[in-house]
Amino acid sequence: MTDGQLTDRSVIVTGAASGIGRRAAQRFHAAGASVVLADINLTGAQAVADDLPGAIAVGVDIGDLDSVKAMVAATTDAFGRIDVLVNNAMVCGRSRLLDAPVEELRTDFEVNLLGPFLTCQQVLPVMIAAGRGVILNVSSVNGLTHLGNEAYSAAKAGVLALTRAIALDHGHQGIRCNAVAPGTVRTEVWDHRLKADPHALDTAASFYPTGRVGEPDDIADALLFLAGDQASWITGVTLPVEGGLLAGNLAMARGITAAD
Ligand SMILES: NC(=O)c1ccc[n+]([C@@H]2O[C@H](COP(=O)([O-])OP(=O)(O)OC[C@H]3O[C@@H](n4cnc5c(N)ncnc54)[C@H](O)[C@@H]3O)[C@@H](O)[C@H]2O)c1
Repeated sequence: MTDGQLTDRSVIVTGAASGIGRRAAQRFHAAGASVVLADINLTGAQAVADDLPGAIAVGVDIGDLDSVKAMVAATTDAFGRIDVLVNNAMVCGRSRLLDAPVEELRTDFEVNLLGPFLTCQQVLPVMIAAGRGVILNVSSVNGLTHLGNEAYSAAKAGVLALTRAIALDHGHQGIRCNAVAPGTVRTEVWDHRLKADPHALDTAASFYPTGRVGEPDDIADALLFLAGDQASWITGVTLPVEGGLLAGNLAMARGITAAD
């Protein structure tokens, strides 16, 4: 997407204070969109928005209905329309299934699954009234295959069902809904693992056919494409953006062919 291709479009990015959401917000802004940076970390979102003329930051807890309603109202007050919603905010509990406190499970489901349900529920009427809109759900390879973090992964799989439902039920009203499933992406979410093991991302990279982990721009590129008119006949799909991780089992393929 080059500058100017989303001019006059209004875009909400949740989780825009950090990582992929921050980069997506910057890239949507560079493409000409009016951007709402929505995050539970309002200070962080505001710091990003300060460098994006015309963009606004909104504090939101996407797991809370009243908070989501306020985010939608702030967007329509500021820009009068919502053309694109990027459901990107997330948390990820670290406990394993047998040890996970119920509150941690609840938070994983509330932020990663209930949150996108609530934002879609509140944004869709605005889009339906306008006869157009694009919803993009940031899922994960964890929603497609097991890689750890059970509750987070279950929520990410649930978001794919939501994506398909919206695509089918609201396509005739001018709404498209797609998901992206990123692989490992170098963001703040990896900080705690890098602290324990400075080579954690190098280890992760060794599982990728492309030999590297992703960068926030890799995901932003896919989001911009799916948001734009070039994707006008693409809906209900999940686009893996994962350097080939899901194409097969690289370690096994290398292992069994090593002696050939
Ligand atoms: N980084 C990766 O390796 C990776 C891999 C696969 C998928 N993803 C997905 O990409 C998206 C972005 O991940 P990231 O790595 O940039 O994460 P991140 O932790 O850097 O950013 C997440 C943002 O969400 C915000 N947030 C948390 N709870 C919230 C709530 N209740 N309401 C509103 N905002 C809230 C946080 O404040 C933070 O700014 C997520 O959906 C994640 O599941 C990331």
